Amino acid sequence: MIQFFHVSKRFPGGQLALDDVSFEIARGQFCFLTGASGAGKTTLLRLILRDEVPNSGQIVVNGRNVASIPRGKIPFLRRSIGVVFQDFRLIDRKTVFENVAFLPRLLGHDLTRQKRLAFEALRRVGLAHRMAAFPRELSGGEQQRIAIARALIAEPEIVIADEPTGNLDPDLAREIVRLFLDIHLRGTTVLFATHDRDLIERVGHRVLTLAHGRIVADRQAAGAAPPAPIALPEAAPERPSGEEIPT
Ligand SMILES: Nc1ncnc2c1ncn2[C@@H]1O[C@H](COP(=O)(O)OP(=O)(O)O)[C@@H](O)[C@H]1O
Ligand SMILES: [Mg+2]
Repeated sequence: MIQFFHVSKRFPGGQLALDDVSFEIARGQFCFLTGASGAGKTTLLRLILRDEVPNSGQIVVNGRNVASIPRGKIPFLRRSIGVVFQDFRLIDRKTVFENVAFLPRLLGHDLTRQKRLAFEALRRVGLAHRMAAFPRELSGGEQQRIAIARALIAEPEIVIADEPTGNLDPDLAREIVRLFLDIHLRGTTVLFATHDRDLIERVGHRVLTLAHGRIVADRQAAGAAPPAPIALPEAAPERPSGEEIPT
């Protein structure tokens, strides 16, 4: 799960990118994050990954206070979160398999296991038959599905996506949304940033709306209970030392 408690972020010399933001996304929930360009969506996602640190407030991800994770343990946080970007970020000179199996290779799994994991992740996005292709041989929609397979390969508890449909036409965009809904149905927490209101209106899930760094609306999923009020915890929940976020 993801919790923000009165989080503010100001970049040096800039105005507030996030201004007193509080919300909670329960484990297994699907949530859109929307708002105009410059509203603070990317900043919010980068704070979850500890690519940035807030000026004030607390962020708790999967029960860990993100600010208190020692520098050397940050890779464990990042491996527990699958990330998908607007521009796919595939490596052109590597095959689909090599792109998708990046993390298992990094973790030292043997080739047989890398192939099994990559096959399974690619099967989920309908592209298991393209393992040997290079990214340039694929359409934009297919490249984004490869990037989604890469994000899923370690079975992360959380998947976050930053405008993943921004480079795709509307039909492909809807296909990508369906994939993320499928990921959610299998129990993963999904946070999906997009400024495309049309895409959101079709899907009856929760929508957090940012404007000028503030949350200005929090539409709950159809049929869901209203959000519980968020209070700052007396002590941020911490895992006992020695226990790792699974990789
Ligand atoms: N690294 C940075 N340095 C300075 N200002 C930044 C940086 N990143 C984002 N900002 C500013 O923070 C605000 C929010 O940006 P961002 O989070 O990228 O919004 P969005 O993703 O919703 O378009 C904008 O005013 C942007 O110019
Ligand atoms: Mg952005």
